[in-house]
Amino acid sequence: MSDIIEQLEWRYATKKFDRNKKLPQDKIDTLKQAFNLTATSFGLQTLSLIVVSNEDLKSALVPYSYNQKQVADASQLLVICIQDNISDLDVVDYYNNIKTTRNTPDEILKPYRNDLIKMIQKMTIEEQQQWSLNQAYIALGNLMTVCAIEEIDSCPMEGFIPEKYDDILNLKEKGLKSVLLLPVGYRAEDDMFADFKKVRKPLDETIIELN
Ligand SMILES: Cc1cc2nc3c(=O)[nH]c(=O)nc-3n(C[C@H](O)[C@H](O)[C@H](O)COP(=O)(O)O)c2cc1C
Repeated sequence: MSDIIEQLEWRYATKKFDRNKKLPQDKIDTLKQAFNLTATSFGLQTLSLIVVSNEDLKSALVPYSYNQKQVADASQLLVICIQDNISDLDVVDYYNNIKTTRNTPDEILKPYRNDLIKMIQKMTIEEQQQWSLNQAYIALGNLMTVCAIEEIDSCPMEGFIPEKYDDILNLKEKGLKSVLLLPVGYRAEDDMFADFKKVRKPLDETIIELN
């Protein structure tokens, strides 16, 4: 079995974290970089990652996470957020970044920039948010795989009340909405879920090969 499959077998949705074991800073930095390196549609990156290390803040979020204690016990709580809307300026900033990073002449970038502005202007706010949300799931998957490779335990979570998180973390004033959680850290020795066998369909039910 390849190393990556072994690591994907090793990972599981951690229900009980060891609250005394903290991630070293280099692991947190790796997760930040991995989030930022996630591919996004057009490369626009309408996502942000909130890294919550503060113990009081993590504890305050438990009641708004259907009492799932992973949120408080994890070393860090990662909150994936989408922008509440996408403006022309987001697109302009993005193309300015390409211009300076790659030294691309403006005449080449201009038509692409204008087309993307038009495409985004045509979307309703709800469509913009759904578009960003699709990409938030890619970031979640990317982070989970990086966690598995780095032997960081994690638990993907949709089970929380986003409006409450947005209030507590002051996300509205940042123009953000919380959409997904990933508590990260180290499993508690007595997390019984660590020893459960993985439940998956047989490969021949999920893979269709057309030769
Ligand atoms: C998008 C998403 C949301 C999830 N939400 C929760 C959650 O709120 N709480 C939880 O304990 N597990 C949650 N899970 C974990 C799944 O139940 C778990 O990944 C699945 O049963 C497969 O088990 P494994 O990850 O241990 O292999 C979620 C998983 C995903 C992908």
